[in-house]
Amino acid sequence: MKQEWEGHAGELMLDAGGTDRSRAAYRLSTLGREHLEAAESLQHTVVQGLQDQTQLSPFSPDELERVITGRGRTVGVFVDGRLMAFRAVDFPGNDPDNLALDLGFAEPLARQAAHFEMSVVHPDCRGNGLQQLMGHAVLELIRARRDVRFILATVSPSNVPSLKDKFALGMHIAALKPKYGGLWRYILLRKLEQRLGTPGQESCIRRGEEETGIVLEDTDRLTACAVPATASDELLALSSSYARQQELLAAGFIGTRLQVTAAGHLIAYRKRDFV
Ligand SMILES: CC(C)(COP(=O)(O)OP(=O)(O)OC[C@H]1O[C@@H](n2cnc3c(N)ncnc32)[C@H](O)[C@@H]1OP(=O)(O)O)[C@@H](O)C(=O)NCCC(=O)NCCS
Repeated sequence: MKQEWEGHAGELMLDAGGTDRSRAAYRLSTLGREHLEAAESLQHTVVQGLQDQTQLSPFSPDELERVITGRGRTVGVFVDGRLMAFRAVDFPGNDPDNLALDLGFAEPLARQAAHFEMSVVHPDCRGNGLQQLMGHAVLELIRARRDVRFILATVSPSNVPSLKDKFALGMHIAALKPKYGGLWRYILLRKLEQRLGTPGQESCIRRGEEETGIVLEDTDRLTACAVPATASDELLALSSSYARQQELLAAGFIGTRLQVTAAGHLIAYRKRDFV
């Protein structure tokens, strides 16, 4: 199905080197096999420019092919026909790397997951909010699929733009653990409420699940994770203090907001509401 944003065009500020910034027209579109080489080259440029190499786990050639031409989808931003940014989504199905399994979801529910995968923006195009722009496009791709009920993503605790992006897309921190061979990562979750329809339909579906016993435990967990608590419950933790955050998560808190302060990056945790 063709998305409304497909072919969407606009203007951005391009870094022309030094302090020079110039306006340039961009176009948004999904990537296909013909863009594989450009995507690999863009990823290479971005990885080379990273100050902290542990912030990003780049796609292997196979993974890139999977999100562009296989089970995933990838959205790209073009300036003058040149790929300057891309953002991918994967539908992991019963893959053992499905992040829902890290949150303890059972197989049948885990299969309804989508993963927000990597986003990269060429250094010359940063500062235009392209990650967010592509995020909304990717969200539409996910919503178009009837079989997806929630979205998951991993983010390095030190990756501020990426954390801001995930919170802005309605996600919250559900876990913090070493991934990808020992790199610390938040696992973020967003439930797609519209899958369940109106509150009336939702409680009806939940009652049905309770009656049949199907994925009851996971549904409770999913719902609990998705519901924000009252503001007074908020506790702050430094994003660099892994043990403290793991304690909070184990005690039923979820991370909902980033606060950048002189003392460091703070994550606001709120108690999950059990409904
Ligand atoms: C992460 C990335 C995709 C964001 O690019 P972008 O869309 O151009 O992001 P922007 O520069 O518009 O910044 C988005 C937000 O992050 C903030 N930000 C950007 N860099 C920051 C930094 N180093 N420290 C603190 N905040 C920062 C911006 O102020 C902006 O905040 P706002 O929305 O509150 O105004 C890009 O930096 C990138 O390609 N990084 C390398 C690859 C990567 O880390 N990808 C994410 C992991 S998948």
